[in-house]
Amino acid sequence: MRKRVFSGVQPSGILTLGNYLGAIKRFVEIQNEYEAFYCVVDYHAITVPQAPDSLRSQIAHTAAFMLGAGLDPDKMTLFVQSDVPTHTQLGWIMECTATFGELSRMTQFKDKSQGKESVSGGLFTYPALMAADILLYDADAVPVGEDQKQHVELCRDLAERFNSRFGKVLKVPEPLIGQTGARIMSLQDPHRKMSKSDPNPAGYISLADSPDDIVKKIKRAVTDSGREVAYDPDEKPALANLITIFAHCSEKSINDIVAAYDGKGYAEFKKDLADVVVEALTPIRMRHDAILADGSYIDVLRHGARRAHDVSSAVLRRVKEAMGLSLYIDPAGVRI
Ligand code: AMP
Ligand code: TRP
Repeated sequence: MRKRVFSGVQPSGILTLGNYLGAIKRFVEIQNEYEAFYCVVDYHAITVPQAPDSLRSQIAHTAAFMLGAGLDPDKMTLFVQSDVPTHTQLGWIMECTATFGELSRMTQFKDKSQGKESVSGGLFTYPALMAADILLYDADAVPVGEDQKQHVELCRDLAERFNSRFGKVLKVPEPLIGQTGARIMSLQDPHRKMSKSDPNPAGYISLADSPDDIVKKIKRAVTDSGREVAYDPDEKPALANLITIFAHCSEKSINDIVAAYDGKGYAEFKKDLADVVVEALTPIRMRHDAILADGSYIDVLRHGARRAHDVSSAVLRRVKEAMGLSLYIDPAGVRI
């Protein structure tokens, strides 16, 4: 039997080049090797306020970009989290499994809550819902960017704790993190990750950006002092980030890229970088536009939600049974 993977992407904005290189490109590559479940995690997105119209449209865009990037409905399952009620059901159980101390140590929570006067309870308990997402599918592995590693590790701890209390019920998953590309940084600040919720759009390349936008953003990207194209993440983090992007979009090695620009300046490197990024993203954007226009993503998501519901209901049932929770009506809503 093929091993399973599960991963989620928040519809909290238009996907960025960081999402693509750190996660979605990988989702596409592994869909042949694994039985894959990919989820547009809208319940995670509402941990911060979302306007209904923009949330609705971002869910559709996220699904269309994932399909446009090459996810194939005949090979994997794509669905929206809030279509499948088992997620919040196991989410609650995982909230009761996680401790306050553990959740307080999550660096993403610390980052996102810093300086805010008021944050939602959901922003704090979010990693418990993420653990539920993964555990509901008996996933062997979770392909994510580096920033999600701590959450996947918490998921493993929760699964192990649950199993030690109630017997071997949950599969303990492994994170699956790429070597490079796992952390694409902002074009304006190489110490911050490229993020779709960055208030300054110059910091990220979105998958919806036109070739013109891409050229402009790369031209404006900060570089380090000096003029030599050298890969040195400690001394020249901004340039190292651009070289990493180049490597991922062109499938060339970092060494080959550095060698090719020996004796040439930043300007020529940036011009070629813009070309390879445009070349990588244009087909995805065009397929996204077509998928959104013909509405074909809707059937994919409907079908995906049914399959996700079938698989996850069986796991939720196992969990409820082990814990002594009621089973008079099973999670699929069918009378037993
Ligand atoms: P999110 O946008 O937070 O839902 O992230 C979706 C996926 O993209 C997760 O696997 C993240 O780890 C990954 N990801 C997000 N931003 C980046 C980035 N700047 N570099 C690499 N991977 C990223
Ligand atoms: N927390 C992830 C992020 O912000 C999104 C996510 C939610 C996820 N549930 C998941 C990722 C389950 C992997 C598996 O990027």
